[in-house]
Amino acid sequence: MKILVIGGGGREHALVWKLKSSEYVSDIYVAPGNAGIATLAECIDIPMNDFHGLVKFAEKKGIDLTIVGPEQPLADGVVNYFMDRHLDIFGPTQEAAQIESSKIFAKDFMKKYHIPTASYCTFDNADAALKFVNEHEPPLVIKTDGLASGKGSIIANSKDEARDTVGKMMIERAWGEAGRRVLIEEYLEGPEVSILGFTDGKTVIPMIPVQDYKRIYNDGQGPNTGGMGALGPVPTINERMMKNIISLVMQPTVDGLREMGYVFRGILYAGLMLTDRGPKVLEFNCRFGDPETQVLMPMLDSDLAEIMLYVINERLDEADILWKKNKKCVCVVMASGGYPKRYKKGFPIEGLESNRIPRETYIFHAGTATRGNKVVTDGGRVLGVTALGDSFEKAVNKAYQAVDEVTFEKASYRTDIGQQYLTMINIDDE
Ligand code: AMP
Ligand code: GLY
Repeated sequence: MKILVIGGGGREHALVWKLKSSEYVSDIYVAPGNAGIATLAECIDIPMNDFHGLVKFAEKKGIDLTIVGPEQPLADGVVNYFMDRHLDIFGPTQEAAQIESSKIFAKDFMKKYHIPTASYCTFDNADAALKFVNEHEPPLVIKTDGLASGKGSIIANSKDEARDTVGKMMIERAWGEAGRRVLIEEYLEGPEVSILGFTDGKTVIPMIPVQDYKRIYNDGQGPNTGGMGALGPVPTINERMMKNIISLVMQPTVDGLREMGYVFRGILYAGLMLTDRGPKVLEFNCRFGDPETQVLMPMLDSDLAEIMLYVINERLDEADILWKKNKKCVCVVMASGGYPKRYKKGFPIEGLESNRIPRETYIFHAGTATRGNKVVTDGGRVLGVTALGDSFEKAVNKAYQAVDEVTFEKASYRTDIGQQYLTMINIDDE
């Protein structure tokens, strides 16, 4: 099978790495890819928003399956574009992708289908939003309706901060068009977990529970980012909780989208807060997470391409998806100094080939490029240093040992990924 992957981050590197081991896959092309992906697949210089160019390429090469990594092409309708031309593609249609691309769509959808989430109000004018802020006690959670690379949710701890955020989003348009409409929601408390599932629009099969470290600094300090690390399986989630999440959140979401007539063959991702009143949805994504995928792919025992074929053929109920039983996985993101604000690019990366990088440790490239015979930094998040181990302690130690081997100027990373689980026993193992 010939595969085309759309995207060029750590998530796509992890997907390509996994697909490479599939007995179904002969050739992999990636648009646009990055320096790490180029060592495994052929990178092609077609921008992600050039749907015409992507389709022409798929037709010329006889691509059997296209896989979409990032949210923007999904929100822009790349799946509809391919389907209209009878090309197989893994991902939701533009209509179904609204579950991620419009937070207001997602909230209204959850209300309609009784999927648990924080209570909320939506606004399309700043005066009404400011009036709401004046009448409600903080903390308030204020979110842009549109896509904002994981940076569109602000927790305002005071009325001043809430007013300031509404002004920035709706009047100054600091988030661009994404902030034309906003929603303000109830502040929830509890541990967070990410549940991703494969879906063919009828069946949904969950992956192992994972955790994303969203803030830039240790202990959850500083602004939100796309994700500074991830791990799985989250040891505090047992089978009973998983069943609950499937029956309260994942299956009703798939059923609701189908009832609305929206085609969704891909990945449904629920970001959840486990409150003392049960799991509540913080957000949905309609694709693989980044860096969660860097953890999920090494943990997946089954053949990814085979699972994707079950999805595309709407036969997912026949699939048996297996995960590494006795392993834990940890990913530490190395970012450019300054991220998620301004940062410089083009610094050479050393140590990628070091022989002191431990076994079962994978350096997935995110923002990297090749300059001459050097690999250089080329984005905010640069590398996802990922390790498998028999325990979280071993996985964490291996990942940080590899982080120590790899250097580039102004590299920044969290040093607390996985710390809270080092001494914990998986509750299913007790
Ligand atoms: P989102 O962009 O909706 O995923 O939100 C990003 C992060 O903001 C989440 O991972 C949470 O840590 C936090 N967050 C979002 N919504 C809420 C909420 N209603 N209450 C408390 N924290 C929230
Ligand atoms: N790491 C969060 C996301 O992929 O949206």
